[in-house]
Amino acid sequence: MKPDKKSHAKPGSLGVLILAAGEGTRMESTLPKVLHPVGGRPMLFYALRLANALKPAGIGVVIGHQADMVQKEIEAMCQGWLNRPVTFIRQRAPSGSGGAVLESVPFLKKFQTAFVMCGDTPLLTFESAYALVNSHKDQKGQVTLLTARLSNPKGYGRVVRSPLGEVLRIVEEVEATPKEASIVEINSGTYCFESAPLLEAIKGLEPQGPKKEIYLTGAMELLRQKGGRANAFQCSNPEECLGVNTRVQLAHVERVLNRRCLDRLMLSGVTVVDPTHTYVDADVEVGQDTLLLPGTILKGKTSIGKACTVGPFAYLENTTLGNYCEVRCSYVNEARILEKTSVGPYAHVRPGTVAGPRARIGNFTEIKAARIGFGSKVPHLSYIGDCDIAEDVNIGAGTITCNYDGVEKHKTVIGAKAFIGSNVNLVAPVKVGRGAKIGAGSTITDDVPDGALAIARARQENKIR
Ligand code: UD1
Ligand code: CA
Repeated sequence: MKPDKKSHAKPGSLGVLILAAGEGTRMESTLPKVLHPVGGRPMLFYALRLANALKPAGIGVVIGHQADMVQKEIEAMCQGWLNRPVTFIRQRAPSGSGGAVLESVPFLKKFQTAFVMCGDTPLLTFESAYALVNSHKDQKGQVTLLTARLSNPKGYGRVVRSPLGEVLRIVEEVEATPKEASIVEINSGTYCFESAPLLEAIKGLEPQGPKKEIYLTGAMELLRQKGGRANAFQCSNPEECLGVNTRVQLAHVERVLNRRCLDRLMLSGVTVVDPTHTYVDADVEVGQDTLLLPGTILKGKTSIGKACTVGPFAYLENTTLGNYCEVRCSYVNEARILEKTSVGPYAHVRPGTVAGPRARIGNFTEIKAARIGFGSKVPHLSYIGDCDIAEDVNIGAGTITCNYDGVEKHKTVIGAKAFIGSNVNLVAPVKVGRGAKIGAGSTITDDVPDGALAIARARQENKIR
């Protein structure tokens, strides 16, 4: 594709181009690299959020490998917050980062300045991106690269400078001489270009390297040859420039994102006893004076109130926890646990559960789609499913709601202040009245009226031998 010489760029306009068409071969995955989750979100989310925050006139995303799927996922992940126009650009063949930019010529022509970034660099912050844009304006070159000095620069393109410190070119590691490979200043893959000279220069890019790819990094030298100037802006926090090519790097980035979340929580008044063994997704909220013990994993849209204790070893996903709750060694998914309720140790709380306030879900108990009312207790060894338990009910150890007849699920309703003895089977659909009592070991198949005592078991016989 040949770039049009005429520029329609609005003076001062900024466009962001995100490169996300690569195959991500080194991930060894059927899932496109840019969709791999990190910090609870697809990797590409971070690039899109950053692009949006720069308030550009337009955002272009180059897609290619599994393009339909990637486009659908992008549309879903941007719903409701992305407020800049997005253009999808299809890269027909995986011809390299330069090939991706060549396909984007019609998009880039619209802007005076192009902020080009990779979809696999999720740690980059808005502050650094914004500083790069400003540095580009100040230095008045044709391109400004975001660079970083890494103690281990392996795998990255190296920034080759003249003895006076001018940026000469970027050399990819596979093509670097041993001397060049010893350079520790790397190309982050994030750049600010003046669009017109960029579009002119990339016409001269030739396939290179072992895979005969068109390297965008080759544009620096071409820009210089045409009398332009390449500048660099060193990122103050090198960690932000880490890219993800392999799952080893994915795990590294995950750790950094997790640590950022935990730092935010700790600075807002949450105690995290061991940040290296506590995992929190980006959207999770935790109230003041809550204690997160080791082995705690908080996923998705989980929200935890004030002064709770969570962990050790607690997994909470899309769950709301009120103030003063405890969840120990338990797995809780899509549940609402209300104030002063305790869960565990060793409870499994499944979707649709609403428990509390002041309720108790005890050890070796499974709760599914049930309401456990104010002050009610299911302290030990029970299965409570499709059940409505009113307030101040006590469920004895080993009680089972038999909610499934092999075809359909049925409901159990238990009135306030009812007392269910140990090892009771409640064969649904069934209702236990307010204040009713059920003798231990009963199998209840009929409704129990308010205040009644139901015993449904064989009478004991003592045979004299
Ligand atoms: C690239 C840079 C390298 C830099 C590093 C930073 C080049 C040639 N090298 O190397 O200097 O240090 O990033 O992390 O650019 N992509 C496409 N289409 C393609 C190929 C890639 O859109 O045909 C996209 C990828 O989805 C990715 C980005 O371009 O987001 C970079 O590609 P990748 O293969 O990861 O390049 P690196 O080897 O990491
Ligand atoms: Ca990369």
